[in-house]
Amino acid sequence: MDHKVTVVGAGHVGATTAQRIAEAELADVVMVDIAADLATGKALDMMESAPVLGFNARITGGGDYDPTAGSDVCVVTAGLARKPGMSRDDLLKKNTEITRGVVEELVSRSPDTILIVVTNPLDAMCEVARRVSGFPRERVMGMAGVLDAARMRWFIADELRVSVQDVDAFVLGGHGDSMVPLPRFATVNGIPLPNLLSADRIEAINERTRKGGAEIVNYYKDGSAYYAPSAAVVDMVAAILRDKRKILPCAAYLQGEYGIEGLFVGVPVKLGRRGVEEVVELELSAAERAELDRSVEAVRGLVGALA
Ligand SMILES: NC(=O)c1ccc[n+]([C@@H]2O[C@H](COP(=O)([O-])OP(=O)(O)OC[C@H]3O[C@@H](n4cnc5c(N)ncnc54)[C@H](O)[C@@H]3O)[C@@H](O)[C@H]2O)c1
Repeated sequence: MDHKVTVVGAGHVGATTAQRIAEAELADVVMVDIAADLATGKALDMMESAPVLGFNARITGGGDYDPTAGSDVCVVTAGLARKPGMSRDDLLKKNTEITRGVVEELVSRSPDTILIVVTNPLDAMCEVARRVSGFPRERVMGMAGVLDAARMRWFIADELRVSVQDVDAFVLGGHGDSMVPLPRFATVNGIPLPNLLSADRIEAINERTRKGGAEIVNYYKDGSAYYAPSAAVVDMVAAILRDKRKILPCAAYLQGEYGIEGLFVGVPVKLGRRGVEEVVELELSAAERAELDRSVEAVRGLVGALA
């Protein structure tokens, strides 16, 4: 393949991301995990599916970072999920250590790469990756908005019984309970959502979107979502590698846009070969603005706890 993508963490999200990238023949994939054999085994298992499925991308896996050298894009999914008895702060500390170590290893071998962070707490881990890499904001971003918007799109399509292909939606803000679904910008084949659904039903969809991650955790019990998260990552990877300049909601480091300085926040960005090529500013209503401000405060609190 012309491109190489590294995925760190061969767990649920990482391995499914690797599989989707290879099956779409977007790039060769190197998986790295502290559980080296897990990464090696999953890579081999996926390659043994290649003759049946007919994809030509190559997937390798292990614990060594050397094979990641020269990656076009690196996706960071390494980390712990919250265990019983562990506070959010404990998780923040542990995943900060993990993300710091992983990003150091990656950027020393791929100084020109583009980093896509997936590990939670997302907006804070993006900031860790930015500080450790020293990369410009074009090349460090987080995946959250594409997933949150995809959930909202599915709920809309399901409610209206229309094709998912016709439904667009946008979610701004941090990746957490304070995310900001924007039904005013949701459309069904160009028709604004408020023309098709009552305010009550729209608010129910907004609320289900905000709690979309928790809904899946409640079913899985011991783990969180990965089919939709990996699909969302791959949408971003494809936009970058194929220079699509797609406008996607991503966690981006704001430098004055939306009146926010020096913080990762989920906003619409133009994603192309250079990474975050532009932050798209929407005019928000007073209510939307207030919701965004609340969400930004939540992110500021997390980043403040990093130090
Ligand atoms: N941003 C989002 O929207 C979103 C969506 C889903 C999951 N997540 C987050 O992504 C992360 C991964 O989720 P998952 O379901 O794949 O978890 P998982 O437990 O299945 O996989 C995590 C993997 O990371 C590996 N790992 C741990 N420390 C490492 C290190 N130092 N170096 C390399 N690998 C290491 C583990 O061995 C494990 O295989 C979690 O933090 C989760 O909260 C974020």
